[in-house]
Amino acid sequence: MRILVIGANGQLGAEFMRHQNSGFQIDGVGRAECDICDLQEVQQCLNRYDPDVVINCAAYTAVDAAEENREVCFAVNHDGVLNLAKCCAERSIPLVHFSTDYVFDGQKEGVWYEDDTPNPINCYGESKLAGEDAIRKVCNQYLIFRISWVFGQYGPNFVKTMLRLAKTRSELNVVSDQYGGPTATPCIVRAVLGSLANSRSGERGLAWGTYHLPSEPFVSWAQFAEFIFAKAQELELLSVVPQVHSIPTSEYPTPAKRPLNSRLGSGEQEVSACDWQTALGRLLPGIIHSLEGE
Ligand SMILES: NC(=O)c1ccc[n+]([C@@H]2O[C@H](COP(=O)([O-])OP(=O)(O)OC[C@H]3O[C@@H](n4cnc5c(N)ncnc54)[C@H](OP(=O)(O)O)[C@@H]3O)[C@@H](O)[C@H]2O)c1
Repeated sequence: MRILVIGANGQLGAEFMRHQNSGFQIDGVGRAECDICDLQEVQQCLNRYDPDVVINCAAYTAVDAAEENREVCFAVNHDGVLNLAKCCAERSIPLVHFSTDYVFDGQKEGVWYEDDTPNPINCYGESKLAGEDAIRKVCNQYLIFRISWVFGQYGPNFVKTMLRLAKTRSELNVVSDQYGGPTATPCIVRAVLGSLANSRSGERGLAWGTYHLPSEPFVSWAQFAEFIFAKAQELELLSVVPQVHSIPTSEYPTPAKRPLNSRLGSGEQEVSACDWQTALGRLLPGIIHSLEGE
């Protein structure tokens, strides 16, 4: 099975590209070779690589900047995704796509399931929901995975930000009233490739549709920061650990509103939860090493 990863230079796309020996032939294209906002370029790219499956990791992900760049954000997260959906539908090949906990307003008590009603509270969330809807309208064969609080070896993320701050600060204020599941990129890649492998082998793969990819245990950003520092110290990767002070969202205003409750659960229990704490322990040496040169 030939997979083409779109947005291959981003945080998640780069992790897919590392899984070359997973039993799939994995090609990848970055924005320079395939700008998803250009329908002709997408068509040419699919003709060139002739994939059996497309995995889209391309997105406009600057959540705060999106509030002032609504057009660009929708151009990528809706129009670009619609282009991909049309091209995959024309070729009768499946499209795997990623969406976000930010399609929800965070007001529910407990866990968000796939059949809960989305109600985004920021522009990024609106645009990601519009992209989901475009795929559901145009494609018969698709898997949309909603993921949250993504971190990994590549690209900027919360883990790297905390470790950078730890170099210069002895105390940090971190928001403690937003809850969710940090999700490690290797776990996302394993879940997606695992489900494609099951479909290929005729074992029960996922039916086409929209799924949550849960990651547990659920924590606040402040608890996540404390765990990062404690783990780094346990692994002897960090000698001095900053003190984390919990603050409410109201004391950390941002241009885009964030949902307070971002806990994702899979109602059908089709997708098993990732264990982000174990994944973080595995990733930390590489992440800290990559920050050393800065
Ligand atoms: N990061 C998170 O915490 C998080 C949480 C929930 C869901 N997600 C979703 O997970 C997926 C992967 O996110 P990520 O963290 O890997 O994001 P990322 O690191 O920002 O990567 C996104 C990639 O998309 C590329 N891109 C932007 N516009 C493009 C265009 N018009 N055509 C082609 N490529 C384009 C970017 O290229 P440039 O660098 O050249 O702009 C970048 O390489 C996205 O769908 C995102 O919405 C992420």
